[in-house]
Amino acid sequence: MLAPVRDAAVAALSELEREIGAPGGGLDRLRLARTPFVPEVRVHVAEDPILWWARMEAYAGHRLPPPYWASVWAGGQALARHLLDHPDLAAGRRVLDLAAGSGLVAIAAALAGAEQVTANDIDPYAVAAVTVNARANRVRVAATGGDLLDTLATGADLLLAGDVLYDRALADRVLPFLARAAANGTEVLVGDPDRGHLPPGRLAVVASYPVPTTEPAVDSPVRRVQVLRPA
Ligand SMILES: C[S@@+](CC[C@H](N)C(=O)[O-])C[C@H]1O[C@@H](n2cnc3c(N)ncnc32)[C@H](O)[C@@H]1O
Repeated sequence: MLAPVRDAAVAALSELEREIGAPGGGLDRLRLARTPFVPEVRVHVAEDPILWWARMEAYAGHRLPPPYWASVWAGGQALARHLLDHPDLAAGRRVLDLAAGSGLVAIAAALAGAEQVTANDIDPYAVAAVTVNARANRVRVAATGGDLLDTLATGADLLLAGDVLYDRALADRVLPFLARAAANGTEVLVGDPDRGHLPPGRLAVVASYPVPTTEPAVDSPVRRVQVLRPA
């Protein structure tokens, strides 16, 4: 990890630890919660991510990225469920969780018996959240920052990507990265609730799950989520 990336993650970690340790509760606070579709895993979520974001921006005095790590996403929940129900996928393997957010998928891989788990995210707060959430679940996950999408090799046996196809520009970078990894012999699994950026014919469905909705701004109580791999 480059020094500025590491410094940002260290600062974010100290802020998250302060937030978690502070007394009291409220809509603009974090709480450690069981994941509805993956109750084996607990992660810190914001009661109301928008309020948490606004308060942290006011505290920082500058804009911060949206706190995606403070919610559990449908794609990540399906992928984590799939790993825990099929532990052979991760057991004894080197796993990379791309765009890890809270680290839910990485933690599930560790619980499933992965030999080594790395969780990567470009948001320093997500890197910090992975660290505190792995600690809360008593598993080892190496949290890394920086953008891997233009790199060639993952160094992993299994590459996991939960809910990363939520934006056209990001999908246009993620899909070639996943394809390169698969071409290099890495097994690739994607968890996706079809946010409109799934490429026709390039990914094959492995499993499909009805996932309880936990995201902000989604009205339906359950969302159908697919686990896919490169076709
Ligand atoms: C919708 S969240 C999904 C988080 C998690 N995988 C899950 O399913 O709960 C998307 C995450 O992608 C991260 N992200 C966006 N662009 C990225 C990139 N180029 N490399 C790594 N992470 C990225 C964001 O910071 C965010 O945490």
